[in-house]
Amino acid sequence: MPGSPHNRTYWNETATVPDLPALSGDLEVDVAIIGGGIVGITTARLLKDMGQKVAVIEARRVGQQVTGKSTAKMSSQHGILYQTLESKFGEDRARLYAEAQEAGIRRISELAGEHGIEADIEPMPAFTYTQDENYVSQIEKEVEVAKRLGLPASLTRDTGLPFDVLAAMRWDDQAQFHPVKYVSGLAATIPGDGSHVFEKSRAVEWEPTRVVTDRGSVRARHVVMATHLPLGQIGMYYAIAHPHAEPVIAAPIKRVPRGMYKNAEEPGRSIRTHRHEGKVYGIAAGPTFKPGHPDDEQESLKGLEEWLTEHFEAGPIEYRWVNEDYEAVDRAPYIGWSSKGGDGYLVATGFAAWGISNGTAAAMIIADLATGKENKWIEIFDASRVKPLAGAKDFVKENVSVAAHLVGGYLSRKPKSYDELEPGDAAIMKIDGDNVAAFKDEQGKVHAVSAVCTHMGCLVGWNATDRTWDCPCHGSRFELSGEVIHGPATQPLGSKVTG
Ligand code: FES
Repeated sequence: MPGSPHNRTYWNETATVPDLPALSGDLEVDVAIIGGGIVGITTARLLKDMGQKVAVIEARRVGQQVTGKSTAKMSSQHGILYQTLESKFGEDRARLYAEAQEAGIRRISELAGEHGIEADIEPMPAFTYTQDENYVSQIEKEVEVAKRLGLPASLTRDTGLPFDVLAAMRWDDQAQFHPVKYVSGLAATIPGDGSHVFEKSRAVEWEPTRVVTDRGSVRARHVVMATHLPLGQIGMYYAIAHPHAEPVIAAPIKRVPRGMYKNAEEPGRSIRTHRHEGKVYGIAAGPTFKPGHPDDEQESLKGLEEWLTEHFEAGPIEYRWVNEDYEAVDRAPYIGWSSKGGDGYLVATGFAAWGISNGTAAAMIIADLATGKENKWIEIFDASRVKPLAGAKDFVKENVSVAAHLVGGYLSRKPKSYDELEPGDAAIMKIDGDNVAAFKDEQGKVHAVSAVCTHMGCLVGWNATDRTWDCPCHGSRFELSGEVIHGPATQPLGSKVTG
C-alpha cells in the first residue's frame, strides 16, 4: 500500500518468511484457530502434538502483526506487577501467574530446539530499574514478593546500563529472541497430516464450531480466537480490556548493555538488543499513549528517539513503528473459555505488552482446554469471569477518556477540506455531513475513507508513524485504504470519493 509503512518493522525486515497458502473451499478439522501470531501458532503446534487436526486462519501474514511489532522479551519480569497481582488475587494465584510465565518462556526454547528453529534466542537477564526515589520502595517490594513466588529475583544497582540507577530488580535465566523467525519457523512445522496454516484468509463470520472466511469455511469442534482482542462482540472483552499503543524504534548502537531493561516510572522506557549483519541494534519502546491520538504519538516517539540516541550512542533510527496491546482492568489476562460451561470460544487477550510469555502460556492453557484437560493456571486467567474481580474504577475512568475523544476529537484543529491538507498531512473532517478520515500523500493524492470505526462507531485517529487509522475506543487498526489490520473490527472503513 503506497505510503503505509506499518509493516516495515525491524523484525519483519530481518526475517525471510515463506508464503503460506490461502484457504480454498470448505474444510473440517478438530480445532480452528483465528489468528496467526504467537498464540495461534503455538496453540496449533501444541494441539498437533496432542494428535489434533488444526487449521490456523490468518487474515494477513503469519507472525507479522502484533507479534512482529513487539520487543520480544522472553521474561516473567513484567515491570511492577507481582505485588499488584498478590494484593488483587492473593499469593496463590499470583504464584500461578509467575509459574505460567516461566513455563511459557521455557516452552519457547523447547519448541525452537525440537523443531530446529533459528530464532536467535539469547539468554539475558531482565532488569526493571528506577531513577526516581519515589519508586525505590516499590522495586524493593517487588523483589521480595517475586522471591516468595519462586521467581529468580534479586535487588541490585549494577545493571550494565550507561547511566546510574537508584534501584533495580534483576531476574536471571531470562532471554530475548526474534519473534518473526520463531513464529514463522513454528508455523512451517504445522501443515500436513490434516493440519493447515492459511494466510490472507480473513474470518468474516464465526460460531463456536465454525469459521467463515472470504476464501472458504472451516468447521471444527472448537474455535480459538487468537486475535489480540476477540473479534466483534465476543465476550465484550473490549469493555474490560483497554488498548494502549507505544512507539518502537530500532537503531544500531555503540554502547551495548548486557540485559533487557525497562524503567518503573514515566515516561516509560524499554530496551533490548539484537545482532544483525555485524551490527548490534537497540530496540527501544515506550511510553504508552492512547491509540489514535496523533499528538501524543509524536511526542512519545520524539522522546524515545532522544533517549536512545543520548544514552546508547545510537546511529540513525532505521525503523519506527507503533505497537498496541490490551490491558485487563484487573491486570490479569483473560485466557480460556469465553463463557462459563465451556460452550463458547477459546480466547486469549489482555497481555498488557507481555505477550511473549503470556501468549505461550495462553497456548498451553488453550491446548489443554480444547482437549478436555484441566489446567490449574486458569484460576487466575479465567476468561469467563464476566465482571472484573477488581479495577472497576479504572474502567470508568477509561470510558470517560474515550467519551471525551468522541465529543471533542480534533476536528477543530485540522483542515476542513482536502485542499487545505498539505502533502503528508492527515485529518478527520466533515465532508457533506460525513466524518471523513483523509490523508494527502507526497504526490498530492488524497486517500479518504469513512472515519467511523466499523466495530462500534467511534471516530478513528491518525497514526503518523505507521500511516494507519487507529481507533481510540477498542484499538482496531485500519490501512489507508480502510482495510482492517486488526480488530475487534472485521469490516473495512467505508470508502469515500476523494477530491
Ligand atoms: Fe471498537 Fe473502534 S474498535 S469502536
